[in-house]
Amino acid sequence: MKRWLVSISIYRCRAAAEVGRLAAEIIGRVVVENPRAVLGAATGSTPLPVYQALARQVGISNTYKKISVFALDEYVGLPHEHPQSYRSVILREVAGPLGLSSERVYVPDGAAADPHAEALKYENRLAHAGNADVQLLGVGSNGHLAFNEPGSLFTSRTRVVELAEQTRRDNARFFGGRLEAVPLQAITQGLATIMDSRKLVLLATGPTKARALANALKEKPTPELPASVIQNHPDVTVLVDTSAAKFL
Ligand code: GLP
Repeated sequence: MKRWLVSISIYRCRAAAEVGRLAAEIIGRVVVENPRAVLGAATGSTPLPVYQALARQVGISNTYKKISVFALDEYVGLPHEHPQSYRSVILREVAGPLGLSSERVYVPDGAAADPHAEALKYENRLAHAGNADVQLLGVGSNGHLAFNEPGSLFTSRTRVVELAEQTRRDNARFFGGRLEAVPLQAITQGLATIMDSRKLVLLATGPTKARALANALKEKPTPELPASVIQNHPDVTVLVDTSAAKFL
């Protein structure tokens, strides 16, 4: 297989907790340099150890009080207070532990009357904030990035998307295992929006990510594998545990 990868730093960690610690160190360095940094937060289960590690740092200092947090995406149609809306998740897992005011947390409004207008507004709000200084990313088992499903253009911006069947199945575990409870659509930052971030930190843990991760890092970048777009970014760190690194 031809290797297209040129300048991505890959760290293989023994376990998810170590992935979390290393990502938190990277974020910590960005914020020490710029206390008003924009942190791009990812949801899903993979980044949780990062937020736990950040919260442990917060116990020692008030470093994170002035940052802003921008979410990558949000389900369309869930009420704000639904425990699985990404707004709830980011407030619970990130803002709460970091002692951040909710005014510094931005999540697309998935309950907006006009989700298309909301997507455009969110894209502009993020651009106005200067884009993410450091963007955390997970990867879907089908290679999606945020909710950019296979077929998403590398030029895509924040927009309303249909969720892939695979993604809804993967995420049903957050909805009591009920596929029918998983929304059909989401508002997601586009791949070009994500690529505007100054630094990308891609996290992958567990065996279900091994194939998508290897393809995303080793194959020629293609919209069929949205995560492969990161090969075109100048500052990418990939943090993986042993099982996700199986095919690297
Ligand atoms: C969700 C999110 C993605 C996330 C992915 C992986 O669908 N929109 O941003 O990276 O799923 O989730 P997990 O970390 O739970 O495997």
